[in-house]
Amino acid sequence: MNILIIGGGGREHALGWKLKQSSRVTKLFFAPGNGGTAQLGENVNINATNIHAILSYVQKNNIQLTVVGPEDPLSLGIVDLFEKNKLTIFGPSRLAAQLETSKVWATDFMEKYKIPHPISHTFTDFKKAIVFIKSHDVSKFVVKASGLALGKGVILPQNKKEAQDALERIMLKREFGDAGKEVLFQERLTGPEVSLMTITDGKTIIPLVSAQDHKRIFDNDKGPNTGGMGAYAPVPFMTKKLLGHIQKTILQPTIDGMKKEKIPYKGVLYAGLMITSDGPKVLEYNARFGDPETQPVLALLKSELLSLLFASIQGTLKSKRIIFYKRSSVCIVLASQGYPGSYLKGVPIQGLLQKPKKDLTIFHSGTTKKDGNIITSGGRVLAVTASGKDMNKALQKAYSAIGKKGIYFKGMQYRKDIGKKLL
Ligand code: AMP
Ligand code: GLY
Repeated sequence: MNILIIGGGGREHALGWKLKQSSRVTKLFFAPGNGGTAQLGENVNINATNIHAILSYVQKNNIQLTVVGPEDPLSLGIVDLFEKNKLTIFGPSRLAAQLETSKVWATDFMEKYKIPHPISHTFTDFKKAIVFIKSHDVSKFVVKASGLALGKGVILPQNKKEAQDALERIMLKREFGDAGKEVLFQERLTGPEVSLMTITDGKTIIPLVSAQDHKRIFDNDKGPNTGGMGAYAPVPFMTKKLLGHIQKTILQPTIDGMKKEKIPYKGVLYAGLMITSDGPKVLEYNARFGDPETQPVLALLKSELLSLLFASIQGTLKSKRIIFYKRSSVCIVLASQGYPGSYLKGVPIQGLLQKPKKDLTIFHSGTTKKDGNIITSGGRVLAVTASGKDMNKALQKAYSAIGKKGIYFKGMQYRKDIGKKLL
């Protein structure tokens, strides 16, 4: 069968890499893809948000399955559009994706179904939000834009001035566009974080192996938030008992609540959790695979991904089992100079043509092919992903592939402390 993957990041490269391992897959297409996906299949020059152009491409090119990577096409209703046209697509509907696309909607939903989450105060009026700042200790809150902001719409103010600056950026300057029409002040929680991705058909929900992202740009969690600078899986503190508790108090109630709302949820449901002294709480939901968490998680997946995607679409997940290798995996993101601010592009990348190494895969994100060479074209450029018997082995393998003797580009920045807290 022919499959189209929408998106052009490391996550989409990893999805393609895993799907290609299935003997049932003939050809992969990526819209728009990147320099790495071009080696795995065919890149189609259509942007992920151009959902009508994607629909007509799928109708004309004998594509049997479409897999949505990023959130934007979901928020535009690509799944609804495809289903109306009787096409097979993996992902949630526009309304279901509100769990990610509107943090205000998600908070109201969690409130209604008693799913543990930080206490939140919502504002659509700038002046009223300022009154809140004046009357509260803002260092106990985080400020969030309600809509989609590429993981960058969360600000942790130290004082009233910083809180006011954050509000001005989000609500007045609209740094995150319409995502800033509504804003939340959310109780600031503490504790380790975990990304728990699941696959669901709206009735059954199957967790994938847990992962931990590294959101800040610099080592020791310093500097601004990014889309994610690296991840590892599994997370050692995610015991069977904790997972069972999360399934009972968070995952199943979410799926059941959506069913009650008559907005059945299928696709990937990603719970961004904080394990507080008061138990696990939902910081955010995502309606899709995480990037870069997908890279180490799929590196550990033994089961066929394709049949899981079909079971989600067809409502047959109950009969499925999912098996992961009992190993560790890690992904180190190499980013462009300047990221997450404005960054350099068009820098040649060396070391990509080395002989493939066992348990090491280089997933591309912001790369493109020009005159036969791979050059940088985005903020996050590559996701060096390695697995091993334990985290130490996986880390050694990944880090030893990076540098002037290995994979290198001028100005590249990456965190040297991915997974280090564990060792
Ligand atoms: P989000 O995009 O909502 O996951 O937020 C991005 C990051 O901001 C999270 O990974 C946390 O590190 C931090 N964060 C978000 N919400 C809270 C909260 N309520 N308390 C503490 N930290 C938070
Ligand atoms: N790595 C966080 C995300 O995909 O939202």
